[in-house]
Amino acid sequence: MKVLGIETSCDETAIGVVEDGRRLLSSVVASQVEMHATYGGVVPELASRQHVGAIIPVLDQALREAGCAMGEIDAVAATYGPGLAGALLVGWNFAKALAYAHDKPLAPVNHLEGHIYAAWLDREEQAKFPALVLIVSGGHSDVVLMEGHGRYRRLGQTVDDAAGEAFDKVARLLGLGFPGGPAIDRLARDAPKPSLRLPRARLDQPYDFSFSGLKTKVQQIVRGDGAPDARELAAAFQESVVDSLVTKAIAAADENEAQQVILSGGVAANSALRAELVERSRAPVLVPPPALCTDNGAMIAACGYYRLLAGDVAQLDADVAPGLVIG
Ligand code: KG4
Ligand code: ZN
Repeated sequence: MKVLGIETSCDETAIGVVEDGRRLLSSVVASQVEMHATYGGVVPELASRQHVGAIIPVLDQALREAGCAMGEIDAVAATYGPGLAGALLVGWNFAKALAYAHDKPLAPVNHLEGHIYAAWLDREEQAKFPALVLIVSGGHSDVVLMEGHGRYRRLGQTVDDAAGEAFDKVARLLGLGFPGGPAIDRLARDAPKPSLRLPRARLDQPYDFSFSGLKTKVQQIVRGDGAPDARELAAAFQESVVDSLVTKAIAAADENEAQQVILSGGVAANSALRAELVERSRAPVLVPPPALCTDNGAMIAACGYYRLLAGDVAQLDADVAPGLVIG
């Protein structure tokens, strides 16, 4: 069964084709990042307009690379939340039109759930439950116990900034531009072993995160006298974020006897986070390749396949849900 997945929740217009939820046939992403970089962050109205212009060429390329015509696609899947309302509306309504015109079922996909399904794309490992999932993106930092396909229990979340948001804000403080995550990752790689140790937040809930105090600490250091060089600050910041994320994810995995640990979302592209999670986890760790960690349509197609197997088909008057959560 070939599913075409459409993703427009933020600043990537992305469409992918996946067979039987696992086999990647194509993944085409038109990134708007350069346009938003001018403004230091994603401008919602510009994102929506850009999606409108990009979506048909992206569809054509995704079908071409998958080697199939729309008539050979068995179902359409699309992100209906969470995300920017105007951006979601473009992809979701486009998906409804495609499904209607070609008489295909439409699977509604939660963007965060989509990120999880990138973990099993194009690899041998079968899903094993319970799986502990760490979803870290520009908008979310969630620790989720996945008990089966479509069965989630959220164990923790951020109480303020998301991990990716913290990377982006700290990068701005260091004058590194947008998006900040890849820039900090690169800079930290060249840093000498940091002598600076930045704090980790302590919270009442064991699996919650907080990153805004850390960002304020970096801000104080940058504005103070004798600030260390940007490489050292980037490395110390990254070390603190990675340590918080990995410590909590591993504790949650151990407590729930997780059979697999899955790292997903844009921040999962971070090299230090990937390495440390693999090193400290007892359960096997699945991390998608960087291109499938950040927003893409293939993960939406993969997740959509399992939604359809569960009988989840959207009505054509269904609306987007910008504030959707997982678990
Ligand atoms: O999942 P995603 O593509 O979009 C959202 O759903 O938010 O995540 C984007 C986030 C941005 O905050 C970006 O800075 C971060 O992922 N990111 C990284 C890296 N690559 C992307 N953060 C840390 N290290 C990276 N290598
Ligand atoms: Zn995302």
